[in-house]
Amino acid sequence: GAPVKVNLSKLEPGQQIVVEWRGKPVFVVRRTPEMLKEIQAVDGKVRDPGSDKSEQPDYAKNEYRSVKDEFLILVGLCTHLGCSPKYLPEVKPMEFDAGWKGGYHCPCHGSKFDLAGRVYKGVPAPTNLEVPPYSYESDSVIIIG
Ligand code: FES
Repeated sequence: GAPVKVNLSKLEPGQQIVVEWRGKPVFVVRRTPEMLKEIQAVDGKVRDPGSDKSEQPDYAKNEYRSVKDEFLILVGLCTHLGCSPKYLPEVKPMEFDAGWKGGYHCPCHGSKFDLAGRVYKGVPAPTNLEVPPYSYESDSVIIIG
């Protein structure tokens, strides 16, 4: 499939857009400073905090799983059986499990991920959501693929 160009300058803070790449949904999120803090706060609750199982290119193997902290790029398919997780950046306590700060929730079997696509402990999905290959063409334009 052809690479896909995405203009990030149209995203509001906290907003997600979904683009298609190689027939797959790709989630593109503009994270706020608060969202980045929540990622640090849940390190102890996710199964593979350092993403050591390589579900991302080397340049996205870092704390926020991205090239630039502000922008998260993920393949939008659950690593359990491939459903599309829902973006729920702000979850009220008790809406799902206590302790989940929001991020992605898979409607099929309840897997939960944080705002870097890292999978929580105790859910069916075995690994973090995949980060596709991408690069910055300019400050606000990425090329996926
Ligand atoms: Fe997502 Fe099963 S496909 S939890």
